[in-house]
Amino acid sequence: MKRVLITGSSGLIGSEAVAFFDHRGWAVHGVDNNMRLEFFGPDGDTTWNLKRLQRDTRRFTHHDLDIRHREGIRELVRECRPDLVVHCAAQPSHDLARDRPFDDFEINAVGTLNLLEAVRRCRPESPFIFVSTNKVYGDAPNERPLVELPTRWDYADAADHEGIDEQCRIDTSLHSLFGVSKAAADLLVQEYGRAFGVPTVCFRGGCLTGPNHSGAELHGFLAYLARATKEERVYRIYGYKGKQVRDNIHAYDVCTALLAFSEAPRAAAVYNLGGGRANSVSVLEAIGRFEDLLGKRLRVESVDQPRLGDHICYITDLRRFKADYPGWEITRSLDDIFRELAADPSP
Ligand SMILES: NC(=O)c1ccc[n+]([C@@H]2O[C@H](COP(=O)([O-])OP(=O)(O)OC[C@H]3O[C@@H](n4cnc5c(N)ncnc54)[C@H](O)[C@@H]3O)[C@@H](O)[C@H]2O)c1
Repeated sequence: MKRVLITGSSGLIGSEAVAFFDHRGWAVHGVDNNMRLEFFGPDGDTTWNLKRLQRDTRRFTHHDLDIRHREGIRELVRECRPDLVVHCAAQPSHDLARDRPFDDFEINAVGTLNLLEAVRRCRPESPFIFVSTNKVYGDAPNERPLVELPTRWDYADAADHEGIDEQCRIDTSLHSLFGVSKAAADLLVQEYGRAFGVPTVCFRGGCLTGPNHSGAELHGFLAYLARATKEERVYRIYGYKGKQVRDNIHAYDVCTALLAFSEAPRAAAVYNLGGGRANSVSVLEAIGRFEDLLGKRLRVESVDQPRLGDHICYITDLRRFKADYPGWEITRSLDDIFRELAADPSP
């Protein structure tokens, strides 16, 4: 039986990956210390998701371990000898990183190094998948010429139509401390591929979404928007007139990408992974969709100042990944995603 080690296993992507690999007959070891509760308060509590996994899976073992615990991580990798590592544990918010810079860097960068080094020592042939982020590009994508449409920004040049590819530079731009810690991790992952031959990949995510997100104001765009609309909370829009664009990929489609890579791994691979143009939506458009689906009006408050380093229009160019893994495609449309989030009863 194949074994996979998944960090951040109670979070959005980690929990989807636990269920996905369990369903396919793998033994799954998950690492999560519910740090999301500490980051975001009750909205971020992932206990419900862990309980769901423990109830619904067959070969899942949970480890309540902090990825900053270097020896603990080394011991775990030595004991469970994974055939695949999927690293999703993170401090995921721009805004929080400003207030907790050491936690941010120690989890995102040093925690990743702890895992990489454990894998190099104990399982160097096992693919190592890092769920990275498009924030490694900082605000460089904002330099693309834009056009303002009634409900969204869009790229003005036809050459940018497919979105941002992996050639976008990652330095000399404004990142936020979160973007920096993730960029450090992204480079470390590449380095372990190049220097030590570990089959590593960085998937630089657009907006990742799905019903198993413990959506909080500071992280989880569509999950939090659905929650705010359902619970009639006040929702704050930060800058750009609410016309900022995100592309959204369902956690299930992230998992099929993880599987595709694990079956044909390379070393030091880098791919942008998001929903692409078809799954792109602006904040204003997303609000309208949830209002229609839920039959409620959202109470909106506008803040002039955008979030630090926030992208104005970000659409993922998926062509590199699709060229290397032609069997992979998006299976969950934007309509599917909205319907699922609107119907979802989870907290
Ligand atoms: N959700 C998005 O829109 C998005 C977009 C781009 C990239 N990403 C990246 O994808 C990855 C997964 O994101 P997600 O949305 O599933 O995040 P998430 O917050 O839902 O899940 C991360 C999990 O990691 C756990 N965790 C945090 N610190 C930990 C620590 N020190 N030790 C052990 N566990 C810890 C948390 O409790 C949480 O359950 C992250 O690296 C994130 O930066 C997410």
